[in-house]
Amino acid sequence: MKFIEEIARRRTFGIISHPDAGKTTLTEKLLLFGGAIKKAGAVKSNKIDRYVTSDFMEIERQRGISVATSVMGFEYKNVKINLLDTPGHKDFAEDTYRTLTAVDSAILVIDCVKGVETQTEKLIEVCRMRQTPVMAFINKLDREGQDPFDLLDEIEKKLNISVRPLSWPIGMGKSFKGVYDLFQKKLLLFQSSKNELTEDILQIDDLADPRLEEEIGDSDAALLREEVALINGVYPEFKVEDYLEGNIAPVFFGSAVNNFGVRELLDCFIQIAPAPLPRFTEAREVHPEELDYTGFVFKIHANMDPRHRNRIAFVRVCSGRFQRGHNYHHVRLDKKIRFSSVTAFMAQNKEIIDEAFPGDIIGLYDTGNLKIGDTLTGGEKINYKGIPSFSPEIFKEVVNLDAMKSKQLDKGLRQLMDEGVAQLFTYELGARKLVGTVGQLQFEVIQHRLQHEYGAKCRFHPVSLHKACWITGDDQKKIKEFIDSKYRHIAKDKDGKWVFMAETKSWLQMVEENFPGIDFHITSEF
Ligand code: G4P
Repeated sequence: MKFIEEIARRRTFGIISHPDAGKTTLTEKLLLFGGAIKKAGAVKSNKIDRYVTSDFMEIERQRGISVATSVMGFEYKNVKINLLDTPGHKDFAEDTYRTLTAVDSAILVIDCVKGVETQTEKLIEVCRMRQTPVMAFINKLDREGQDPFDLLDEIEKKLNISVRPLSWPIGMGKSFKGVYDLFQKKLLLFQSSKNELTEDILQIDDLADPRLEEEIGDSDAALLREEVALINGVYPEFKVEDYLEGNIAPVFFGSAVNNFGVRELLDCFIQIAPAPLPRFTEAREVHPEELDYTGFVFKIHANMDPRHRNRIAFVRVCSGRFQRGHNYHHVRLDKKIRFSSVTAFMAQNKEIIDEAFPGDIIGLYDTGNLKIGDTLTGGEKINYKGIPSFSPEIFKEVVNLDAMKSKQLDKGLRQLMDEGVAQLFTYELGARKLVGTVGQLQFEVIQHRLQHEYGAKCRFHPVSLHKACWITGDDQKKIKEFIDSKYRHIAKDKDGKWVFMAETKSWLQMVEENFPGIDFHITSEF
């Protein structure tokens, strides 16, 4: 197959949801359709929240599992689908944000009973920042959920995104009869089936067709016609461009656990979801069709085997063909590196591959050369933009408990930060080190890993801070004045960028007013 065709047939996406909405179940059904697994129950959920947080062995085991399932490649109707898993646990939200930088589109799963939940709001914000096209799957229609029109309103309001239903439910919960697929004009009749792929599909191009009464009864047929007329009146006609520009989210209804409505989602997805898109480097836009290889690291997994300190770096191929055994340019280190062991992720297996195409995710075994955000190219000195860091929610000062091991502590902290486990801020004054995270769980993971992998002991001392704000401004003199006047509250992030550590919200507001020439950002991507 030609290089261009290989690119055109790839779809790289992530599934996002609030925990328990059905992400794992939907993933599994997609893999079933793709023939990548034979029966349900094969995909392990990488949910850590089911276990007590202090159970480190369990965390480690879970980390192992999530490596195997964090990228799943499979073929469906001659389309190569790369599904990137995102951790459901909110403490690992940063990992999810970074994974979203490596996809071309996303599928959002919403529980029809619970509606839009908090974590979804933040994830959609990340998609919006990058104009990532989103499709929504409203799940669990076999349960008594909220009214579908109300759900759509809620999505529009809470997620600040326009929607367009492409399928419509007939009843819900006990009276759930099926959905009408507005995209393919098919009536799907519901059958509860957890483990097999069953179909009862009727092509009904015109809803006036009397077969509708035969299948779902008079009153449901009348209601469906009325609601579809309403949908067509209220929502604009669906245009693929609107979806591709990230302006409108097509919505499907179904029940993942019952395999219902999933095939329709997948069929529409492969038709309309974007093939690998161009991506921005600091210098220029790179098109996937360019022949020179480029790619970036968006995730690092370490310590899969405690006996070896091996790490696997997940690289999104952005342009050109990646070939095993070739020398590639590591832009940050300005040196050539050869990767002889390259892994592709196929459903639940990892397999050694010889080449990869734009849109693919490859795993590179690494001994410490790579960190998140690194660009690898055929030789060009360009850096991919946009692996965002968000201001952490929880901050703690690192207290070294063994003066003899301070080197090990520094090294361990540096490497864990390279993996993106947490963020490190080093104060200008006294070189105090603060670790910032989204959740409590990371501190336990860090402490445990520092001790077991680096032989360093530390304690964390809570520090009350509102936000870490990256600071920029056009006038260097003003920045310097600001830093001098607030030097007790100024730190550097791991890349040496200036950060203002704001203690309270009101204080931050006051400082923003008093220093009009300075811009304060709560993400590092600006
Ligand atoms: P997550 O990855 O988003 O966290 O959710 P997951 O797929 O694990 O699903 C959460 C729960 O919701 C699971 O039940 C799952 O079986 C159930 N579920 C998923 N899709 C549907 C659906 O269409 N209808 C109904 N009624 N339930 C659904 P669980 O009891 O937590 O786990 P399990 O023992 O069933 O695996």
